[in-house]
Amino acid sequence: MPADFEAMWRDLAPVGRSSSSGGYFRQPFTAPERELDAWFAEQCAARGLEVERDRFGNTVAWWRPPGAAGPAVLTGSHLDSVLDGGAYDGPLGVVSALAAVDVLRDRGVTPSRPIGVGVFVEEEGSRFGLACLGSRLATGATDWATARALTDRAGVAVEDALADVARGEADLLRDVGCFVELHVEQGRDLVDRDVAVGAASGIWPHGRYRFAFTGEANHAGTTRMEDRRDPMLTYATTVLAAGERARRAGQRATFGRLDVRPNGTNAVPSAVTAWFDARAETAEQLDALLADVERQAQERAGRDGTGLTVTPESVSGAVHFDAELTSRIAGPHGWPVIPTMAGHDAGVLSAAGIPTAMLFVRNPTGVSHSPDEHAETVDCLAGVAALADTLAELAA
Ligand code: HGY
Ligand code: MN
Ligand code: MN
Repeated sequence: MPADFEAMWRDLAPVGRSSSSGGYFRQPFTAPERELDAWFAEQCAARGLEVERDRFGNTVAWWRPPGAAGPAVLTGSHLDSVLDGGAYDGPLGVVSALAAVDVLRDRGVTPSRPIGVGVFVEEEGSRFGLACLGSRLATGATDWATARALTDRAGVAVEDALADVARGEADLLRDVGCFVELHVEQGRDLVDRDVAVGAASGIWPHGRYRFAFTGEANHAGTTRMEDRRDPMLTYATTVLAAGERARRAGQRATFGRLDVRPNGTNAVPSAVTAWFDARAETAEQLDALLADVERQAQERAGRDGTGLTVTPESVSGAVHFDAELTSRIAGPHGWPVIPTMAGHDAGVLSAAGIPTAMLFVRNPTGVSHSPDEHAETVDCLAGVAALADTLAELAA
C-alpha cells in the first residue's frame, strides 16, 4: 500500500534541512537532492509506475493502465530548492501528484490516457544560474552545448555534476498532450481571497543579470575618500536606484547575491559582482527596467572611476497559460485564476507549445524562497483533490 500524502511529507521533511535555520539546501545533484530522487523512484516502484529518465537528469513516472492511449497528461514539479528555501516550493507538486494518482485509484478511476508524474532538475537555477535548466533541456529551449559548460560557484560544470546521476535516453515529452503543475502559492492572493486552491493565468517575464563592478583595491585607512575607485559604492547606489525604480513602477528589482573581492574589512574592494533579479508585467517593461538600472549604474561608475559589465544569465519570457485548459479545470470549481511573478517549469513547457496550466495551493505566510514558506495540511489535501479531479477530467 503506497504511503499517503502526510506519510510522504514526513519522509521528505528531514532531507537537506538546516538545523540552524530550518530551511532546505537541496541544490541539484547534491546528496540531499539525490536522496529525494531515490525516494521518488521508490515511491513510483511501490505504485507500479514505470520510471523513464532523460540524459539531463529529468524523470517521468508513467501510469499506463492497459488500453490507455493517446496524448499523455503530465503533472509534477521539481525537488530542488533555493539556498535555505522552504519545504513546499517544488516538492508539493511532486508529492501531490503521487497522492493524486492514489486518489484516482481509490476512486476506481482508470484513465484512458497515460498519466505521467514528472520531476525536472535544477528548476531554481540555484546551482548553475539558469532557471528551469531541466525543462529547458527537455524542450530544447536550451541546447546541451550551452548547458554542459555552465558551472557552479566551485567551478564544477553541469556535465561533470551529471556524471554520477541516474539517467536514460528517453524523450520524456514526446507523447505529452498537456501539463498541469501544482505549486504552493508564493504570495498572498489566495489568503486574501480566503480560498485554498487557485489556478494561474500566466507568469511575468523575468531575468537574472550579472553586474560585475571593478575598481582598485586600496588601504581603508590611508586612502582619502576622494582618491578611491570603490566598486562597492557604485554597487550600493545601483541597489538603491533599482529598488526605487521598480517600486515606482510596481515591478520587482532584487540584488540577493554578492561576491566581493578580496572581501577584507580593512581594504577598499577591487571587485564586486552582484546578481540582479528583475521582473515586470511585460517584456517591454522588463527591458526598460534593466536598461534604466544599467544606465544609472554606468553613470555612477563614470563618477566613481569604476567599471561595469552586465551579462544576462537567465531570461524567461512572458507566459500566458492555455486559457481553454485553465477554464476547463478551474471553471467548474470556481477557482480564481491569478497571475504570478514566479518562474516555473510549466512556463517552459507552455512556451514550447504544450497546452499547460497551473494549480496553486494557499500559503498562509505568503512567504516563499524562505524557511517560513508554508501550507496547511488541509489545504495541501484540497490541492491533491483538485489535482486528482483535474487529471481525471483531462485523462478521461
Ligand atoms: O525564481 C523563481 O521565480 C522560481 O521560484 N524559480
Ligand atoms: Mn522557487
Ligand atoms: Mn517552484
